[in-house]
Amino acid sequence: MRVAIVGSGRLGVPLGRLFSTGGHEVFFSDADPARVAAATGATGGEARGGTPAEAARFGEVVVLAVGWETFPTVAAELDGALSGKIVVDPSNPIAERDGLSVVVAVPSGLTSPQYQQHVLGAEVRLVRTFNTKWPKELLALGTVGQRGGSRADMPYWGDDEAAKKAVVPLIEDAGFTAIDGGGLSEAR
Ligand SMILES: NC(=O)c1ccc[n+]([C@@H]2O[C@H](COP(=O)([O-])OP(=O)(O)OC[C@H]3O[C@@H](n4cnc5c(N)ncnc54)[C@H](OP(=O)(O)O)[C@@H]3O)[C@@H](O)[C@H]2O)c1
Repeated sequence: MRVAIVGSGRLGVPLGRLFSTGGHEVFFSDADPARVAAATGATGGEARGGTPAEAARFGEVVVLAVGWETFPTVAAELDGALSGKIVVDPSNPIAERDGLSVVVAVPSGLTSPQYQQHVLGAEVRLVRTFNTKWPKELLALGTVGQRGGSRADMPYWGDDEAAKKAVVPLIEDAGFTAIDGGGLSEAR
């Protein structure tokens, strides 16, 4: 599968590495081209890289590995390019204020991915997953699973059943056991 990563930071890079090792075509992107170069280097040149707009065109699945509060910016910059795409949302409602991590209040009555779905638009086929592990833990656990060791659970949630079904092989190929958590209203 062609997987695009928008945001080649702490989470995006290990995730892209796991997908690449799992046999998928990976395209890294970031606002900072230096991050893209580092990310493609981390896959030993297996992955491609470019701008977020190029990534959105490339990906059958697009992972938005940017900060929770950056989703509106990315949505505006990509200007409809995510329409109809399967988008993986690993974002937790955490932001940085004066160098400290703070929990952001999700608008009342919504779960975090329900809010991100609202930000991205109803035509985006959002699947929430890969938000429950620290990046180093994610890479270590996924690598063990990919090498035939015991597999950690990876929950996923979504309201689009076909999109969820498409993401399951990505989770499995990344070395995890995919666990259906239900709809976005039930998401963590
Ligand atoms: N790190 C974790 O432990 C963890 C665990 C689970 C889930 N998550 C979630 O994963 C997401 C990414 O977290 P992270 O820790 O990987 O953050 P990060 O290290 O800051 O990576 C995010 C990357 O996105 C880039 N970026 C910012 N604006 C962009 C834009 N408009 N277009 C393209 N790229 C842009 C950032 O560049 P700049 O730095 O230049 O802004 C940065 O390189 C967050 O939503 C977080 O909640 C993180």
